[in-house]
Amino acid sequence: YAANAALLSTLPQRGDLIVHDALIHASAHEGMRLARAESVATPHNDATAVDQAIADWRRRGGTGRAWIAVESLYSMDGDRAPLADLAAVAARHAAMLLIDEAHATGVFGPDGRGLAADLEGAENVITLRTCGKALGCEGALLCGPRTMRDFLVNRG
Ligand SMILES: Cc1ncc(COP(=O)(O)O)c(C=O)c1O
Repeated sequence: YAANAALLSTLPQRGDLIVHDALIHASAHEGMRLARAESVATPHNDATAVDQAIADWRRRGGTGRAWIAVESLYSMDGDRAPLADLAAVAARHAAMLLIDEAHATGVFGPDGRGLAADLEGAENVITLRTCGKALGCEGALLCGPRTMRDFLVNRG
């Protein structure tokens, strides 16, 4: 919970846009409430709507960075985000893609690395893994580019 709050309240800056899935977890909402960036919800698992939201914002004069915030596996519905489509949208708009792997870590992907395992190492992808679910302990991991890690250590 604290990792999501720190991530979303620290990295997006004033003038940026956070586009989040309508069903994203409360901890992400907590971070967005503290953030200086504006945020907008898009219909659940709709990558086209994310694309349009960013394009609309640019047309209205948005010049900052876009941040796309989703979960890889949604707990209430048990469905999965269209990560490949979202990664393509992020690439098209030079956006950052924040993927909450709370429910996939330890369960899906190679060695339980999650549903976004094939995006590991991408400079525009940040994943969050909670330790309190399948890993059976507490805390969380934020995985992403080194500059992001340094920034969060100092500012988060
Ligand atoms: C998608 C998601 N992210 C983050 C959290 C927060 O995890 P924790 O309860 O370990 O703080 C949860 C908890 O339910 C969650 O479902």
